[in-house]
Amino acid sequence: MSENSRLVVANRSLRSLVDAHVSRRSLLLGGAGAAMGSLVSLKGWERPALAQAGAAPAGVSSLDFDDIPQVIADQDAVAKGYTKSVLIRWGDKVLADAPAFDPKTVSGAAQAKQFGFNNDFIGYLPLPKGSNASDHGLLFVNHEYGTVHAMFPAEIAEKRTPEHTAQEMEAHGASVIEVIRENGSWKVVEGSTFARRITMTTEIAISGPAAGHDRLKTSEDPSGMLVKGMVNNCSGGITPWGTVLTCEENFNSYFGGALPIGSPEAEYDDRLSIRVQPFNRWFVDVARFDRSKEPNEKNRFGWIIEIDPYDPTSQPVKRTALGRFKHEAATTVVAPDGRIVVYSGDDQFDEYIYKWVSAKPYDPSKPGMAQGLLDEGTLYVAVFGEKTVEWRPMVFGQGPLTAENGFASQADVLINARKAGDLLEGTKMDRPEDVEVSPVTGRVYAVMTGNKDRTEDQINPANPRSWNLYGHIVEMIPPTGADNKADHAALVFAWDILLLGGTMADPAQYGGEYPKWSGRYGAGTKVKLANPDNIAFDPKGRLWIGTDQIIDHSISGQPDGLFACDLDGPGRAVVKFFYACPRGAELCGPAFTPDGTTLFAAVQHPGQAISVTNPGFLVPLDLSKPSWPDFQPGLPPRPSVIVITRDAGGPVGG
Ligand code: FEO
Ligand code: CA
Ligand code: CA
Repeated sequence: MSENSRLVVANRSLRSLVDAHVSRRSLLLGGAGAAMGSLVSLKGWERPALAQAGAAPAGVSSLDFDDIPQVIADQDAVAKGYTKSVLIRWGDKVLADAPAFDPKTVSGAAQAKQFGFNNDFIGYLPLPKGSNASDHGLLFVNHEYGTVHAMFPAEIAEKRTPEHTAQEMEAHGASVIEVIRENGSWKVVEGSTFARRITMTTEIAISGPAAGHDRLKTSEDPSGMLVKGMVNNCSGGITPWGTVLTCEENFNSYFGGALPIGSPEAEYDDRLSIRVQPFNRWFVDVARFDRSKEPNEKNRFGWIIEIDPYDPTSQPVKRTALGRFKHEAATTVVAPDGRIVVYSGDDQFDEYIYKWVSAKPYDPSKPGMAQGLLDEGTLYVAVFGEKTVEWRPMVFGQGPLTAENGFASQADVLINARKAGDLLEGTKMDRPEDVEVSPVTGRVYAVMTGNKDRTEDQINPANPRSWNLYGHIVEMIPPTGADNKADHAALVFAWDILLLGGTMADPAQYGGEYPKWSGRYGAGTKVKLANPDNIAFDPKGRLWIGTDQIIDHSISGQPDGLFACDLDGPGRAVVKFFYACPRGAELCGPAFTPDGTTLFAAVQHPGQAISVTNPGFLVPLDLSKPSWPDFQPGLPPRPSVIVITRDAGGPVGG
């Protein structure tokens, strides 16, 4: 922690102590234990053993590694007994005829065949399809964002031409690569027939209730059914039928220009922070990103896209039934009655958690995209009470979602999902990032990465801290349905808080209670978690937590990286630090092979730092400075996918 932030935290501590104490019992026991009493009519909630500082001896975690130091360094680091290696970097070959990486040439054509920038979500899909192969598969990797200022030194980045825009557009999207483990080492299969780039110029179909709607029609696509590209793909998920759901997150920053005067789009564009002068400059070079020329183009972004990585000729599809907002992730599970449930967070301060339930059950006999399940169903917004979370349906004509409130159809409800969530009084969360389901217990974990804007009078049970600098993780518990399976389609769940990020205070110094600002973990935790973002489960159901402090690591004074904890037993919420990102980077997309022996992770924006002299801008690249991962003069820092394995063999984490 820097000296400045130490002072800020100290001041906050005093204020919070005066304002209110939230006792450990009321937060971790009352929030859960009390739930049991009020929910007896809803069968089947099984409470896990709750994290209780002082109730269990230190060092009880089932994880087999020791914490690594929380130290910012140019080189990354992994726990003793483990080996990390770089699998693929920005600019490496994806398609067989891709040119070699050239750190000084701006080229959209080259980038279209090379690994994109700022890797985020990673999906591992075994080969052959349907197998549990853990030594051969496909990786589907999102490329969330990137500007030439992060890719090239200032003298190249600043001489902006349309080619700069072309390279940025091709650096976005996703890559599909084939990977294989031979003699213990993972490598990318060169010349794979599965290899594919999907970018901002790939043709993508639009399906579901908003497809063909007037608000999705443009001069280039009068049908409103076909769009070029996907943008700001953050996290995602894999469906039971082997396709990938990839999510458009901060799509707002790619559209600029003024809407026509009096446009009915203005109110909702404002709700999404679409601005006349966005951070991104594409609208200067490409007419479709300029709202004064194409006011509807932005309505074709902000969706979840389904892609079949096993078929490189298949057309991706934007599934509008799942709603339009800044989707962080899309996690798919099957409810006991066979219906598909997709969880997604809307990543912004004070936005909502959503789930979507298909109208029809999953049919395992139908292959891949043929399921077509994701076009018909109901989107719900989460409303957290003291002990339960209610899922309120977002259906045109029901409740406040009517013409009087500006909705003319279900398509309107989906295009303006945030507004529908407002009217349904969804619970404003502390930046909902990843939402994932434990493969062992069926419990649902939703990550709040933080919310510096929340004031004391805006706290609610699921977001219990004002000025939430370090984030927290919410645990939702569906009731048990048929065959003893978690019923994800149910309309009421129980919930609890798994942990609160930040430095843990010693309750002994505060009258036996935790001060409200304190971090909260299982007993024995020796590290501090700051800003959880992407999470994953290993096959044993342990939670792995990637962090993202948004480049500015000076607040916490520690690197981003990968943490892990048990979710049951004495090690519940005992957090350990496993992997430290290189300076400037966040940790995205952790993904395990089915046997848990390999962990893939995406190191995003290595080497980046906010300029002290020019706040709001990045420190320019210096190619003479050796940078992760190559440490070769002349090569820039490069976002990369890494592979981590256990030296003694066996599952990562033991
Ligand atoms: Fe793209 Fe919410 O992180
Ligand atoms: Ca994220
Ligand atoms: Ca992030």
